[in-house]
Amino acid sequence: MRRIRIHASLLGLGVARLPGALREAEAAGVDAIHFDLSDGCFTDNLTYGPWLPADLRGLSHLEFEAHLMVVHPGAYYDELSRSVSRIYFHAETVEDPRREAAAIRNLGVSPGLALSPETPVASISGQLDSVDSVLVMLVKPGRGGQAMDASLLDKVSELSAIREREGLGFSIAVDGGVKPGNARLAASRGADVLISGTGIFSGDPMRAVEEFRRSIKLVDERCTRDVAS
Ligand code: DX5
Ligand code: ZN
Repeated sequence: MRRIRIHASLLGLGVARLPGALREAEAAGVDAIHFDLSDGCFTDNLTYGPWLPADLRGLSHLEFEAHLMVVHPGAYYDELSRSVSRIYFHAETVEDPRREAAAIRNLGVSPGLALSPETPVASISGQLDSVDSVLVMLVKPGRGGQAMDASLLDKVSELSAIREREGLGFSIAVDGGVKPGNARLAASRGADVLISGTGIFSGDPMRAVEEFRRSIKLVDERCTRDVAS
């Protein structure tokens, strides 16, 4: 059965709020915690470094992942490998995605390739066998709380078609403006992982995650029936 995962982004929460947010996310039943590391260069804002997931690692049983919105992602892999199990690097920041993926995998971490809105799927279609996941940005990278550009879900459909045609195993994550109200749309286009910040933490996380699960349930069930028939 296809099970869509919900990953909670902590971007936008103050540091003092983080231990409580981890507890709430775990109680709400999210599948992972998503750390957005940005350097004020690839993005216009600066968030935090690899020290943050490391500092928080002991406070949660949840899987941690890092989304590197930085111009030199390779400088972060080693330190992050001690606290996260997945690293997304941006296609726009590396010369050879296959080499980056291998460097991440050599550290025992799962490599993911992230695409900014302006980056076409065609530019990375030859690299998809080297990564475990592809993250499709649905907003300009950097800040939480932006509205999803739903036209970018065409990239999810495109990736899903390539995956099926070529028999590849990468998962597809969507990030930016993902809310309970548009989760079904993203999932029906082929997204396996929904990354959400304000969609979870702007209100009651428990309730938000329930709403996410309810809205994607039909997609999960339809896929189960498709597989069974
Ligand atoms: C944006 C980040 C996202 C963001 C998600 O650049 O990559 O992970 O924090 O936050 P929301 O869900 O509020 O768009
Ligand atoms: Zn992110």
